[in-house]
Amino acid sequence: MKPTINICDGCCCGRVNKSNMAVPTTELKALWKEYELAQHVNLRVTSCLGPCSRANVTLVSTVEGRTWLGGISNEEQYHSLINWAKGTIEHGQQHPLPDSLLALQFTPD
Ligand code: FES
Repeated sequence: MKPTINICDGCCCGRVNKSNMAVPTTELKALWKEYELAQHVNLRVTSCLGPCSRANVTLVSTVEGRTWLGGISNEEQYHSLINWAKGTIEHGQQHPLPDSLLALQFTPD
């Protein structure tokens, strides 16, 4: 099973009028294609994943389990997801998320 990154761009995540940063979906998809990541990691841009109060939310699913990330507030953090996906090519999906993303981890209610 390939890992999957679900990036929320829903009713709260990505909504600038709710003080959340816009999700750079076009750029992320372009980089996904440029680095040919689709054969290694699924990238999905989704509607609401549920825990809106944690916006911007991303859910990373691997054979190791699910990791919820919340409060994504800059492009560097989204780029870290891309770098992690690139890392799985060499190290497999057990490749750990970087500390900068793990600092955003939360457990949904
Ligand atoms: S809009 Fe992203 S979790 Fe609800």
